Amino acid sequence: MTYNQKINEIIAQVAEIAGYLWERGWAERNGGNISYNLTEYADETLRTLPGMGEPKELPMAMPHLGGHLFLVTGTGKRMRYVHSQPMDNASIIRIAYDGKSYQIIAEKEIVPTSELPSHLLIHDYIAAAGRSERAVIHTHPTELVAMTHNPAFLQKDVMGTLLWSMIPETRAFCPKGLGIVSYCVPGSTELAQRTVEELHHYDVVMWEKHGAVAIGTDAIEAFDQIDTLSKSAKIYLSGCSMGFQPQGMSMEQMEELKRIFGL
Ligand code: 13P
Ligand code: ZN
Repeated sequence: MTYNQKINEIIAQVAEIAGYLWERGWAERNGGNISYNLTEYADETLRTLPGMGEPKELPMAMPHLGGHLFLVTGTGKRMRYVHSQPMDNASIIRIAYDGKSYQIIAEKEIVPTSELPSHLLIHDYIAAAGRSERAVIHTHPTELVAMTHNPAFLQKDVMGTLLWSMIPETRAFCPKGLGIVSYCVPGSTELAQRTVEELHHYDVVMWEKHGAVAIGTDAIEAFDQIDTLSKSAKIYLSGCSMGFQPQGMSMEQMEELKRIFGL
């Protein structure tokens, strides 16, 4: 299958990011998944490819995604192989015009991630809001997930504010902080709906005792946000393992950053 240059670049970028997720140790076995809205980059040939097999019904309608195309990693597929052989471990799907079902259109009949409800509902929200994000990443960053096992960190903005205070970069490059979704069954529509509610206010959301979800204008931007928050979590845990609670930047210092960077 040949794609236009932009689609090839997106496939290469998703493969690049999948490699980072594996290298970071965030992608045990088939942990994590990536989706990318290709609609505006697809040419007529890709848009009109015949579907493979019968349309698959979605668990809920996606009213703003009729006719949209997505690159989606496959369920049970390993990020380390998405990196080395992306189109053997991901497929391109097309949402039906009524937003109620999808078909795989390329390249192989690889069943999309079990987290498709969350990915598509997030893209539906982005489309409805006219936002510019096109990539959604879900991954299992060890230290960030560990922190969600402390109930104190699940209170609104507690974990996000703590992570902001660990290093100026996190305050500057994750300006919206961190949303929290309390434990839900993986792949469930409840998880999808509650994630979208948090995305009204945050660009990165933690799923309690499970993982992180980030959105970005591309996959690099989404990855960088999780990576930056993960760096803060590592600094926090390093301090704790040395036997002290890291002091963190003061509220005044963080306010100063906000002013200087126009956050
Ligand atoms: P998939 O293999 O279905 O993408 O699931 C991985 C995962 O992380 C579920 O939350
Ligand atoms: Zn997961």
